Order: sequence, then structure tokens, then C-alpha cells
Amino acid sequence: MKILFIASEVEGFVKTGGLADVAYALPKALHALGHDVRIVMPAYQIIRDIWQQWPVTEFESQISYYNRESVHAHYGQHEDLSVIAMSHEKSFARNGLYDDGQYAYDDNAYRYAVLSKASLDWCKVENWQPDIVHTNDWQSALACFYVSEHFANDDFFANTRTVLSIHNGAYQMHCDKRWLAEVGIDERFYNPHDFEDGNGLNILKGSLGFADGVTTVSPGYASELITPMGGHGLDFKYRALTKPLTGILNGCDYDQWNPETDPWIIKQFAAADDAGKAQCKRALQKELQLDIDPNVPLLGSICRLVDQKGIHLLVPVILELMKNHDCQIAMLGSGDQTMANQLLFIQRQYPHRFHFVNGYDVGLSHRIEAGIDAFLMPSVFEPCGLNQIYSLRYGTIPLVREVGGLQDTVCRLSQSQRNLKSATGFMFSELSEEALLTETLRMLDVYKNKHTQWRAMQRNGMAKRFSWKKSAIQYQEFYRDLLKSPKTHHALNTQSTGQD
Ligand code: ADP
Ligand code: GLC
Repeated sequence: MKILFIASEVEGFVKTGGLADVAYALPKALHALGHDVRIVMPAYQIIRDIWQQWPVTEFESQISYYNRESVHAHYGQHEDLSVIAMSHEKSFARNGLYDDGQYAYDDNAYRYAVLSKASLDWCKVENWQPDIVHTNDWQSALACFYVSEHFANDDFFANTRTVLSIHNGAYQMHCDKRWLAEVGIDERFYNPHDFEDGNGLNILKGSLGFADGVTTVSPGYASELITPMGGHGLDFKYRALTKPLTGILNGCDYDQWNPETDPWIIKQFAAADDAGKAQCKRALQKELQLDIDPNVPLLGSICRLVDQKGIHLLVPVILELMKNHDCQIAMLGSGDQTMANQLLFIQRQYPHRFHFVNGYDVGLSHRIEAGIDAFLMPSVFEPCGLNQIYSLRYGTIPLVREVGGLQDTVCRLSQSQRNLKSATGFMFSELSEEALLTETLRMLDVYKNKHTQWRAMQRNGMAKRFSWKKSAIQYQEFYRDLLKSPKTHHALNTQSTGQD
């Protein structure tokens, strides 16, 4: 199959979170299955040195009735994969991806509309007819709308099917209604079933109704998105899809995340009781100026500092652990400055037991995964989550909340502690500090007093494999199924949604 894969970030080029990991690893796995995959991403300023070297094609992209843009497609190879960096100076020649460090760019809807439409126009320019246009999150979702509406009478895309994958349903791109005409959405689609939301435009909401197939990144999150509690306000849209929302679990790129070969860590290791993991722990304690002690439990976390990650639960629990319990914590994160300040405040009080690095650091993220004993992930919601999967491979025991992809990837140690053949981690349900603290203390008890159980769980985790090949085969079947079915016909709905 010819697959056009559009994403706003791609590992190896630019990354703010797990979408980038997927946007590289999934095309790589699909390519390995024999498909012709082309990744399209924005030609961001910060990676100019890379794409400027690539051959370029210039063409025009008609975004809307009024807006015709001149775009440059830079065509490169990254390892075995074809990557197109779509350059549009007005949209992407700025320092940030989505924001200026503080505020989201106010023309984001338009910037990514250019990416979405130009990706399709590029296919026409190259006469490369995709079987599948695979879009990811709101940033490329409009490509589903464009194939369905702008190219409705164009034979070029007559056999193409569109897929929209939801990596994070909370980011939807709400914006002022004035963008409707700018991005080429006809006024008739400004209704509560399509793009209208409150008193503005919602790009993700509207696009959902135009995709031929919609997937998300775990079965657990798929079952949450269709509920009022878990659908981020769009549950009725997920329930109304013609083809049911499908959850396909993300895999792990073991070329990047493997303690036996990891170039970022001081000593590679193959088993948790290998001296290598202990050496990594010692090196991490040293790097982060924590007391050097092989026996103290060293917990850790790596995440974007956003509400989703449950930082409001972590902060009081870390304080309690520092005050009354024997453990150390290493954290790496960037994002919300208020959250960062709270963590820096704790660090000032307990500099030898708690260390927070406020920033984005790939090498350190690998050294934390390798050096810590347990990974804390108390997410409010989590579409899939990757760090708990990386943790398993590094003999680091994840402690997660029972949501989304976390519940699909971690097997909790039961209260009776009898499931030692399968348990890989700890899990709590209630979204409260008490529940997180109780489970953390239970985990610390196992670490300190039940060494054999801890080792058994580490072994179970290290033996698990979340293969991208398996996920890619599921996507392949999903695509084949779409290609066999007629295109989604988008009918205007005039009934009330009951939402307004
Ligand atoms: P999300 O996509 O919601 O941020 P995931 O768990 O799916 O969560 O993926 C996060 C990815 O980003 C992981 O690869 C993680 O290691 C990486 N990451 C997050 N924050 C940082 C950071 N501050 N420094 C380095 N890597 C980070
Ligand atoms: C999102 C989600 C995360 C998921 C990632 C990759 O950013 O927050 O849970 O793992 O996308 O699909």
C-alpha cells in the first residue's frame, strides 16, 4: 500500500512527546512490512539545517477560496524512510513548534491547515496516489476533511481512504470562528455536529466526521473516549462514527530503548540483577547530586509538565515521602512553570534526596529509565503512555494509575501478591493523593522487605515485548478493511445534538 503519514512531530527531527516516537516507529514498522510510506512533517526552523540539504519541489496549495500559498516540499531520507519536510515560511519559520514558549501561536489552525492541504497537493504534484492518508491528532486531521470535500470531485483521491489517529483527545484546536473561511471550511459545516463548538471552531471535532476510519493508541483509551467522563467533551462524536473507534496499542522502538545496547547509559545490562543496573543507579545519583546509596529506593518520573500527568497528585506525595519515608526521587520535565517551581521548591528543601531537572534532555531520560528502581506515572488520563513501557524493558517497575493505555500495558501486583508469575507493576485507581501515596508505600514495602518478589516483577517486565510489528500488522488490517469498504459519506445532520 502507498501510505501518506502526516504528523506534526517526528522522532529524530523534533519531539515534544510520544506522538513523535509513534510518527517515526510506526512508519518504520509499516515500511518493514513492505509498504511504501512517506512521512510528511512541517519544515520547522529548528531543523532547518537538515531539510535545507534536501532536494526541493515548489508548488501552490489552495487552502481556501481566498488563500493560495506557495509551499516548498523538501524530500529526504532518514534511515530507510522517506520524509517530506513541508516548508511554508509564514507558518513554520519560527522558533517554537506550537507556541512561543509561553503562549500558543494564534494562527495554529491555519499553520496546520497548510501542512494538511499541502501534503495532499504534494501527492498530486508527484503523481503519487496514496491508498491511505494517515493523519495524527488535530494538527493533520483536516486532511480527512480536504480529501472528502475539497477533492470530492477529483478522481485522484477516489480510491484513497483517510485515517485519523487520536494520540491525545484533549487537544482539539478550539479557535475563533473567523478561521473557518481561512482554512477552507464551508459555512454549512459550521453546525453543532461538525466544526461548531460553543462559540467557535473545533478542528478535531469537525474532522472526526470526515475520516473513513478513526483509531486511538490503546484499547483502554478507545473505551474511555466513548464515555462522557473520558471523551473530553467529544464522546458523542466518537460514539457516532460509522466504523467503531478502534484501539491499537502503541509499540516500543527497542532499537532506541534497549538496556543491552543503549549508548546513553554508563553500563549496558541484560538482566535486572546484572551489576550494570546498579552501576547506572550509582551514576545517576552522582549526576543528580543525590546521596550515593545502592540500597535506598530511587523513584523517578519523566514527563511533560501538564495537568494530564497528575503533577498535582505527585507534588504532595513527594513532600510526604521526603518528610516521613526513606527514598530518593529523580524527575525530568518541562512545561508549566508553576509546576516546575513547585518541584524546584522541594529540591531546595531536600537537595540530596530529590532532584528535578527542568528541561528536555533525551540522554538524561535514558539514564533515568536505567538508573531508577521504579517509575511514577499517576496520569489523570493516558491515551497510551510510553515511559511505563520503556521502564519495563529497563527492569524499572512502573507505578501507574488505572487508566487508558497504562492499564493495557502494566499487570498490577495483586493484593494477595500471588500473581508473581505475571505481575509487572503497581496500579491504583482513585484520582487522589491518598490512593497514590498508599500504593507508593505498598511498593516501597515490597522493595525493602520482599526482595524475591521485586526481582520476579523486574524479570517479568524485562521479558515483555510491545512489538511495533504487531501493531503495524493491526494497522495494515485496519487499512485493508477500509479499502474494501465504501468511503465514508458525510451527510449533513440537522438534528439537535443535545450538547448545546
Ligand atoms: P506524552 O506523549 O503524553 O508526553 P508519552 O509517555 O507517550 O507521553 O511519551 C512521552 C515521550 O516524551 C517519551 O519518549 C519521554 O521519554 C519523552 N519525554 C517527555 N518529557 C521529556 C523530557 N523532559 N526530556 C526528555 N524526554 C522527554
Ligand atoms: C500522546 C499521549 C500519550 C501517547 C502518545 C503517543 O501524547 O498523551 O499517552 O503515548 O500520544 O501515542
